[in-house]
Amino acid sequence: MSEDFFRTGEEEVELTFERITSFGYEIRRASALDFGCGVGRLTQAMATRFQIVDGVDIAPSMVRQARALNRHGLRCRYFLNNAHDLKAFTSNSYDFVLSLLVLQHMEPRYSSTFIGELVRVLAPGGMLVMNMPSQVSLSPLGLMTAAVPRTVVNAVVATRRGRHGVREVHRLRREAVREIVRRAGGTTCAEEADVAALGKRWKTYRYYVGKRRPSHEA
Ligand SMILES: C[S@@+](CC[C@H](N)C(=O)[O-])C[C@H]1O[C@@H](n2cnc3c(N)ncnc32)[C@H](O)[C@@H]1O
Repeated sequence: MSEDFFRTGEEEVELTFERITSFGYEIRRASALDFGCGVGRLTQAMATRFQIVDGVDIAPSMVRQARALNRHGLRCRYFLNNAHDLKAFTSNSYDFVLSLLVLQHMEPRYSSTFIGELVRVLAPGGMLVMNMPSQVSLSPLGLMTAAVPRTVVNAVVATRRGRHGVREVHRLRREAVREIVRRAGGTTCAEEADVAALGKRWKTYRYYVGKRRPSHEA
């Protein structure tokens, strides 16, 4: 894996922290989680900012490569998790949780569960940053998702892209993401268009989610 590849992770994490700081948000730098870490592009950059960073992925090949490419010793740990939840991870335990370019590859029933799980493992006072497409424009047919039921759109998009050997991409409407976050005890601090993630055809959002400290600690 090239230096340039890891440099993109460094830049992504740097920009993310600039945004978080611009919201006036300060997070503890004890522990962080990178959900869907792949080979560790973002995890390695996070390890320069947190005492402990955990990367989690469903693919054994990714976890194996990530471990081989780790430059931060025991401070950076990689875990294989092929469950449909994060039960192996403790509630309220990470100051920062990042999940970029991951949730879109799961059917909504799974991404919905994982969004709730990411909020659950987030420590009060911490921040979760994740991205997820909300809509797709089905050109050349010119269909807008707003006019088509969600399940149909997801099936069509998955099939069309699958035929061309591209991984499935699913979406979850912005309103649904907000509701899952709220129910899990999180607060959506900001939502920003994320064109860089999947291009202009997809209306992708980046979510910045906080979690309140119990009032006696505030
Ligand atoms: C496009 S890669 C992004 C990797 C990394 N987040 C980055 O930005 O460099 C998507 C990753 O998500 C992982 N993934 C997909 N579904 C997952 C799941 N249910 N649990 C954990 N990881 C998952 C894939 O194995 C893959 O490594």
